Parts: sequence; structure tokens; C-alpha cells
Amino acid sequence: MNIQSAFNLTEIVALWPNDGSEPSRGAPQVPTLYTSRLILRPFSLADAATVQRLAGEREIAAMTLTIPHPYPDGAAAAWIDTHASAFANGQGLSLAIVLQATGELCGAIGLVLAPDHHSAEMGYWLGKPYWRQGYCTEAALALLQYGFQTLNLHRIHAAHFAQNLASGRVMQKLGMRQEGYLRQAVLKWGQYMDLVLYGILWEEWLEVLPATPGRTGWV
Ligand SMILES: CC(C)(COP(=O)(O)OP(=O)(O)OC[C@H]1O[C@@H](n2cnc3c(N)ncnc32)[C@H](O)[C@@H]1OP(=O)(O)O)[C@@H](O)C(=O)NCCC(=O)NCCS
Repeated sequence: MNIQSAFNLTEIVALWPNDGSEPSRGAPQVPTLYTSRLILRPFSLADAATVQRLAGEREIAAMTLTIPHPYPDGAAAAWIDTHASAFANGQGLSLAIVLQATGELCGAIGLVLAPDHHSAEMGYWLGKPYWRQGYCTEAALALLQYGFQTLNLHRIHAAHFAQNLASGRVMQKLGMRQEGYLRQAVLKWGQYMDLVLYGILWEEWLEVLPATPGRTGWV
């Protein structure tokens, strides 16, 4: 995997002033990561219409806690607008998943960072036309590598609705371990939903690394 950013999380947080002022010109930029089939790059405002179309499908919103449905006009641009400062101040990282072959934007993946704890929560979605081709797993493997090797995280976790078997399968393929099952933990569209919690520690990631699918195909 090639990475166009070499800041670790401590350096990122140190570069951001605590007084609410803008970061210095040396503030870290959202990175770009490359896998064998994908580019994970910063979103730009030009992506907003595609984000609205893909994330606007009911099946995407139904399996996530925060994506609205219908997806309102302007919401994608407003979301993209937050990315640069969220990364520069150590709050989080959002990347567009793009097919190398065609340049198509097909989804999003990101980390919500907890710098004080050296941990992060991972989240992702893929547009429906791109499901079941291994793209999410490939993107998430690259993001785990970036999180552990470049940001120096100690732990990365994720959660999925119990009925979201595809997302659970992705977490298993990443080598994450099931850590918990929270019954009726969140309210989604008027229904209490069970949450399944997964996590992986740095030393576990080192163990599963040689066996993870797609590993040998990275550039
Ligand atoms: C979850 C999601 C990101 C997966 O993306 P993807 O690119 O299709 O994932 P991958 O192809 O890398 O892997 C999917 C795995 O789930 C399996 N799968 C897919 N649908 C499934 C189902 N209904 N039941 C069981 N397994 C299923 C696939 O067969 C594959 O496993 P395999 O490689 O062992 O065959 C995508 O379905 C999505 O965006 N869903 C809506 C939003 C969402 O759920 N986001 C995550 C919230 S936690």
C-alpha cells in the first residue's frame, strides 16, 4: 500500500491549536491510500452528487445509524466540508473509495479517532452496484494498515446491526474479533436494533496480516 501522508496521530493532534484557531500551514492533509483495485482518497465537493445518489439508496441508510433517508440536498457537500478540519484536529478520517480502473466513486470509509486512547471506530458503506466484489474488505484492510502503521493506533473497533450479515462478514474477514452483543441498543426508524461489536488490537493485526485476503495484491 502506498500512502501520501506520514503523520502519526500524536503529531496530527500536536499540530492543531487548542484555542479554536485555524491550524498552521503545516497541518496534515487527508491521505490517499492505494490498493490493488482501489484508490482511497479525500472527498472533494465535486463528489457530492454521487454521494447523494449512492448513499441515498434506502438499503444504505437502513443499515447505518447516521445516514439520513431521503438524503437531503446539500447534506453531502456539508459532510465533505467537515473532512479536512476533522482530520487536521485528530477527530476523524473520511475517504472516498474509488475504482482505479474507471475512476468511479463507489463508497466511503473512515475512522472516528479517539487520540487520548489510541483507538478508532471504523465505518463504511458501498453503493449497491458495487456490493459483493470484495471492495469493502480491500478498502478496510488498507485503512487498518494506515491506522495501525501510520497513526500508531492500538485498537480499531466497529459495530453492525445484527441483521447486517454482510458487514459482519467484512469484519470477520479483516481478522476482527466479536467482542460483544448489545440487545436493542439503538433506535432505528422506530425499532430497537441489536448491535454486534467487533475489535482488533495492534498485536492481533500483526498476527492476521499475512493471512488477510488481498494482502499480496497491494501495490
Ligand atoms: C456492508 C457493505 C459495506 C459490504 O460491502 P461489500 O463491498 O459488498 O463487501 P465485501 O464484498 O468485501 O464482503 C462482503 C461479504 O459479505 C457476504 N455477504 C453479502 N451479503 C450477505 C448476506 N446477505 N448474508 C451473508 N453474507 C453476505 C459476501 O458474500 C462477502 O463475504 P465472502 O467474501 O466471504 O463471500 C455493503 O453491503 C454496504 O454498504 N451495505 C450498506 C451499508 C452498511 O451496511 N454499512 C456498514 C454499517 S456497519
